[in-house]
Parts: sequence; C-alpha cells; structure tokens
Amino acid sequence: MDIGTSISIDDDDGWSNGSGGGVFVTGTDTGVGKTLVTAAIVHALRSDGIDAVGMKPIATGIDRDVVFKSTDAEIIAKYSCLSSEEHELVNPVFLALEAAPYMASIVLKQDVDIERVFKAYKRLKERHEFIVVEGIGGVMVPIKKDYYVLDLIRDLELPALIVARARLGTINHTLLTVEACKRRGVEVIGIIMNMIDHSSIVEVNAGSIIQELSRVPVIGSIPYIKEMGVDDIPYIAKYIRYDLLLT
Ligand SMILES: Nc1ncnc2c1ncn2[C@@H]1O[C@H](COP(=O)(O)OP(=O)(O)OP(=O)(O)O)[C@@H](O)[C@H]1O
Ligand SMILES: [Mg+2]
Repeated sequence: MDIGTSISIDDDDGWSNGSGGGVFVTGTDTGVGKTLVTAAIVHALRSDGIDAVGMKPIATGIDRDVVFKSTDAEIIAKYSCLSSEEHELVNPVFLALEAAPYMASIVLKQDVDIERVFKAYKRLKERHEFIVVEGIGGVMVPIKKDYYVLDLIRDLELPALIVARARLGTINHTLLTVEACKRRGVEVIGIIMNMIDHSSIVEVNAGSIIQELSRVPVIGSIPYIKEMGVDDIPYIAKYIRYDLLLT
C-alpha cells in the first residue's frame, strides 16, 4: 500500500540530513505526552553536554498572538535554550485551527508549506548537534493530501520514537503505529510508555507485552504525575533511557 507521496529535501547546498543526530517523537494519539517527552529529552541531552534542540515543525490550534503561536513550540524552545533569532525555526508552519493540518488547510484555505519545514530543520541541523522533532498527533495524521506524518518522518530520514499512553487500548494503538512505520520504511528506535498508573497491573505490564510483541525496546516508563506542569519536565528525563537515542 502506498499511503503517501515523497518530497525530496535535497537542495543546492548539497546538504544531506542523514539519519544520525536526531529523533522524531511521534505518538499513538494526540495528548499522549509527546511535548513533555520531547522537552525532557532535549533537557537531558543538554545537561549531558550535548547541543540538542527541539522543534515542532507543524502545529495547529488557537493563535495566541505571542512569539510562539503554538504552546508546544514555546515549551520546546524553553528547554532548547535557543537564541531569539532561532525562534522562527522551532515552528515554521502554524494553522490557526485545532485539527489535522490537512483539515485545517482546507477550512482556512491556507497551504501547508512543507518546504518551510525542511528549510527550518536544515538550519537547526547546521547549528546544533541533535534535533528532537515533535510530530503532530499520530503517524497517520494527514499533513497534505496524500502526505502523512509518516511521510514527513521518512523525508527527514529520522528514526521514530513512539509515545504511548499506558491505558486500556494501548497495545492495539502501539502495535498499529509500529506496523505503519515498518510498512513505510521508518525505523522505530523505541517506545515510551507514559502516564502509568502503578496501582493498575494492566498498565504496569503493558510495556513489557508491547516490547515482546513489537520487538521494539521500551526505553522509558513514565508514571502518571498528578498536576504535572511544564516545570516538572526535567524530572521526567530520569524515566527515559535517552542515552540509547545516541547510538
Ligand atoms: N506522565 C504524566 N503525568 C501526568 N500528566 C501528564 C503526563 N504526561 C503528560 N501529561 C499531561 O498530558 C497533557 C498532554 O501532554 P502533551 O502536551 O505532552 O501531549 P502531546 O502528545 O504533545 O499532545 P499534542 O498531540 O496536543 O501535541 C498535558 O497536559 C501534560 O501535562
Ligand atoms: Mg504536543
């Protein structure tokens, strides 16, 4: 099944994005913890002396009319410690409607400029050692007609890290996501189980069953943290084997 078209990001500079030096954080759904994980990984790598930065290439939602229209981009930029001239690179495409980008582009009659994404990614990549890219929703979210998040991951030539919410239904959602990545030729570098309720035997065991069945390592198991806020992000990193992303 050919689910999407391919967009080339080669340009005149002879730039090659390569597969090292970055990871694409996707998820089984919206609201599973991608932003939290993206910012936590950036923070942890930076604390280890690696010049890591994050990016939210495409965001949709309410335009807050501040420097970062997207809240996700603001959180990611905060932990990336970017200079103000780099702020525009964090979120090159924003559509002011909370919806899949393709849907938002139709309703708003606004094009999704993928080339802007590749240019911003390239510029960040030239300046920094490691880029952590947060996706939007899950892997089959349409960005443009016949162009899905999966296609973006493939075109950026990044391995995928899947964030899954540890509640009932997650085995199905996570295995489907892994399967879709495999079919598209996207490497899945790991899975992170998030929001685990440790009083639930089902939630505690979901990660090991997913790892066994998918043959993809679970590289993080993050508990549910009551009243979790942006300032808790550095604390989250200790639940993630972020060192495995560098190998
Ligand atoms: N381990 C956790 N414990 C408690 N709350 C959490 C946890 N992880 C994430 N959350 C909360 O869940 C919400 C969604 O998290 P987050 O914004 O990171 O998800 P997302 O996958 O990036 O969502 P989106 O698809 O909108 O980008 C946030 O309010 C966040 O604070
Ligand atoms: Mg997010």
